[in-house]
Amino acid sequence: MTRKVTKAVFPVAGMGTRFLPATKSVPKEIMTLVDRPLIQYAIDEAREAGITEFIFVTSRGKGALEDYFDRAPELESSLRAKGKTALLETLEATNMDSGAIAYVRQHQALGLGHAVWCARHLIGDEPFAVLLPDDVIAAETGCLSQMVEAYAETGGNMIAAMEVAPEKASSYGIMDVPPSISRVLPMQGMVEKPAPGTQPSNLAAIGRYILSPDVMRHLGEIEPGAGGELQLTDAIAREIAEKKNVYGFRFEGQRYDCGSKAGFLQATVAFGLAREDLRQELDEFLVDMVASRHAAE
Ligand code: G1P
Repeated sequence: MTRKVTKAVFPVAGMGTRFLPATKSVPKEIMTLVDRPLIQYAIDEAREAGITEFIFVTSRGKGALEDYFDRAPELESSLRAKGKTALLETLEATNMDSGAIAYVRQHQALGLGHAVWCARHLIGDEPFAVLLPDDVIAAETGCLSQMVEAYAETGGNMIAAMEVAPEKASSYGIMDVPPSISRVLPMQGMVEKPAPGTQPSNLAAIGRYILSPDVMRHLGEIEPGAGGELQLTDAIAREIAEKKNVYGFRFEGQRYDCGSKAGFLQATVAFGLAREDLRQELDEFLVDMVASRHAAE
């Protein structure tokens, strides 16, 4: 029997320099896709997967994130007084049970592995999920729910996997897996941001993980790796070498890299088109826009 995963770590300490100047005063995770901030998508996906304890690893300047998940009594009573029940309902999703969210500071930007390690005392001796809010995944059943289901059968450690173009492999953690079309792939190794042409496969890790307490222990022992940072991938690679119990999981769904401007724009269009109240207007606009661009060429 595998232990139920109820805790999730959200590393949100990054400075978001790729989105400057916007991120000078707004945390990257508060930037909105249509009308919901990035972090809300990750929280909703985690909730759907049965997560009840949410651990945010933050840094200086992330106060807006804490406020976002707090009550807004003045706003709520003014909406109530005006009878704006639909708007009140949209605020519901931002309300968290008392004590469900914990915030831990990462005092120095030492890498993703270090950020996750900052949550060790809150995780204790339990399996846990990690969600990187930059990776937004549109799916009928949430990516983490799919993984929780596979994990209930397999146990071990599970990492979301997606094929990437060979020239993109050096931007990801890459899995060493035998060629196979299975959904659950036993990993023989993992390497963070391999030099171009050296990747063991084209299967990249995407920001959803279910990890064992052993990986947390390895995080306390690893040395700086790619980019001089403490890498989550290196702790996972140790676990593979020790126990061979790490699996890549090919999820169903479309992943958007909202850590990049192009990815963020693509996600904005896709999520806009998925919304009934916006679809028609946006669709017409896009068709016209593309047609006039082609006509101008
Ligand atoms: C991080 C991980 C990497 C993973 C990627 C997925 O990299 O270190 O292994 O493939 O997220 O988005 P980053 O994008 O923070 O450089």
